[in-house]
Amino acid sequence: MTLQFPALPNFTGYNAPMRTDCEILDLEVTGEIPAEIEGTWYRCGPDPRFAPKLGDDIYVNGDGVVSLFRFHRGRVEFRMRHVRTERFLAEREAGRALFGAYRNPFTDDPLVATVSGSSANTTAFFHAGRLFALKEDGLPYELDPDTLETRGTWDFKGRLTSKTVTAHPKIDPATGEWLLFGYEAGGLGSRDMVFGVVDKHGNLIREDWFEAPYTAMQHDFAVTQDYVIFMVFPTTADVERMREGGDHWVWERDKESWIGILPRHGSVDQLRWFKRPAAYSFHVGNAYNEGSMVYIDLCLSHRNAFPGIPDADGAPYNPEEAAPFLTRWSFDAQDPEQSFSSRQLSPIPGELPRVDGRVVAAKHRVIYYGGINPELPLNISGPIGPGSNLLVRVDVESGAVSALHLRDADSFQEPQLVPAADHEGYLLVVVDHHDRMLASVAILEAAHPEKGPVATIKLPIRLRDAFHGCWVASGASNGA
Ligand SMILES: [Fe+2]
Repeated sequence: MTLQFPALPNFTGYNAPMRTDCEILDLEVTGEIPAEIEGTWYRCGPDPRFAPKLGDDIYVNGDGVVSLFRFHRGRVEFRMRHVRTERFLAEREAGRALFGAYRNPFTDDPLVATVSGSSANTTAFFHAGRLFALKEDGLPYELDPDTLETRGTWDFKGRLTSKTVTAHPKIDPATGEWLLFGYEAGGLGSRDMVFGVVDKHGNLIREDWFEAPYTAMQHDFAVTQDYVIFMVFPTTADVERMREGGDHWVWERDKESWIGILPRHGSVDQLRWFKRPAAYSFHVGNAYNEGSMVYIDLCLSHRNAFPGIPDADGAPYNPEEAAPFLTRWSFDAQDPEQSFSSRQLSPIPGELPRVDGRVVAAKHRVIYYGGINPELPLNISGPIGPGSNLLVRVDVESGAVSALHLRDADSFQEPQLVPAADHEGYLLVVVDHHDRMLASVAILEAAHPEKGPVATIKLPIRLRDAFHGCWVASGASNGA
């Protein structure tokens, strides 16, 4: 069989699969890397190894590839390696794609009937000295933090019973705990959910099961000091539809969103749900509570932002409806329906919100994210279509918004904050140079990204858009 990728948007241009495991030592640097940047930046994203079984595929179905930038005394090295998932190994053995439509096992080759289809492609995550690649439809894969070699799936020494773990874990900096949840935890299309807590040493100390009101794509959740909030937005799954070859996910605009509030230290019997109109959010920037008042800053759109997820009623994808805006939800956990309010925090649409890892679950002042100005040139890269043409900083207390636009041929990937002891720190961000088909890393003053890079790390290769990552300071046992 000839291996050839289709000439379609998810497989051409900047989205062309790289299919590369590599190491580049002593990257070229323009400017001086600040002395505070000592540690490793891990990232994870999709990169298909084989042409899609069904002729085309969505961006998020690519095989997981994890990369690292290691900073030491002003020098930087780079390493990138595919996660050897069960799926990767089975397809490698066959020399072709065996998995079909995204998370639809009824479209898979019978050869992989008992093989996990999870691609481990969403985030690189570091906790208690271990590095993981996470994807919300399967177990974590543990990787060697230096070589990025795959050690295998991780189920907390047999303690985890959920089949899934979110790719948006939270580390509470106050306790060192890893808080997690899983949806479709009992299997394909199930309403089963779990909430779990891993102590600072890496031991799973809590796993509670409960049911969602309906089966939905729950990509992220929110954690405060006293509450955990689950968000069931109407991107829904249906096994019968999958059995007929249909999509795992469709957007159902007629369904309500259900928001679940769990007292963090209480039992799941205390979980209560309240309803909101249909909306979607992929990512939460941060959340905190003051007494029973809960504040969640999230990127919110009127429909699922992914064009690859069709409307159940056949309506065409509307990019304006899908545009996410950073929004603050406030409500009193004692009476959420009556007290609920929603306020937009930035006029610039965008996604991939990040905060300083030291304020997760506590009050934050600043959020950084990738923004889109539709009046500036847009370049195709990543899951939504256009990549971010702005890097945005929002001071949620003062309301001040600042943004950086580099060249018209550039787009940004997800920013990563490197905190500093006595100032806001630095942002690391991969910049895609679409005219050169090369990438670089811009290092920016986090307080003033609009000033442009203080240093730039040049790569001799392109980097297909990753999703998420984490920073691990030298000698640290946890990431941020
Ligand atoms: Fe995500």
